[in-house]
Amino acid sequence: MANEGVTDPQYEPVNTGRRRFLTATTAVVGAVGAGFAAVPFIKSWNPSERAKQAGAPITVDISALEVGQRLVHEWRGQPIWIVRRSPAVLEALPTLDDQLRDPMSENPEQQPAYVLEGDPHLRSLRPEVSVLVGLCTHLGCAPEMKAEIRPEPFDANWKGGYFCPCHKSKFDMSGRVYQGVPAPTNLIVPPHYYADENTIVVGVDPQGAA
Ligand code: FES
Repeated sequence: MANEGVTDPQYEPVNTGRRRFLTATTAVVGAVGAGFAAVPFIKSWNPSERAKQAGAPITVDISALEVGQRLVHEWRGQPIWIVRRSPAVLEALPTLDDQLRDPMSENPEQQPAYVLEGDPHLRSLRPEVSVLVGLCTHLGCAPEMKAEIRPEPFDANWKGGYFCPCHKSKFDMSGRVYQGVPAPTNLIVPPHYYADENTIVVGVDPQGAA
């Protein structure tokens, strides 16, 4: 697999940190605020189209997403990662449980319950496709994807996953956090569903999901 130097067709470079997102969001809010100050009050009754869109779901075509690749999109000002995992990575996930802080994803804040209904090691609706919010749960840096199973400088027995260079937190390819690192919880799985075979909608639960 050619996973080093992640393929991210949507954005280059991949490593867009939370701070950059927050800075951009703040800039937009500042500009909107200045605009409101200059117009009659009545106009602020109706939310702008931009404000309505800020929380709107996003639709992502994954038909071109190959094994080992990651798509990066933005939803609610956060990077959303969609990754197609290899069979070898999927096989390795259960072997990591005793090294992880919350291997069964028992913290309900970090994912919707329906992604645990199949194999909870996978934290996904489909085994091979992982959907995550790409922000480290320590201080919000953007972890690097290290999807290949091979020795890494930070872990000689690396089975693929995400490494946050800010303070060296590690997560597996399901976004489950390792023990002994600063990040306290698993990466967040956002609400999402499949509109069809190759289309994921992020920001909405599947119909009928609890
Ligand atoms: S922000 Fe990721 S380890 Fe601190």
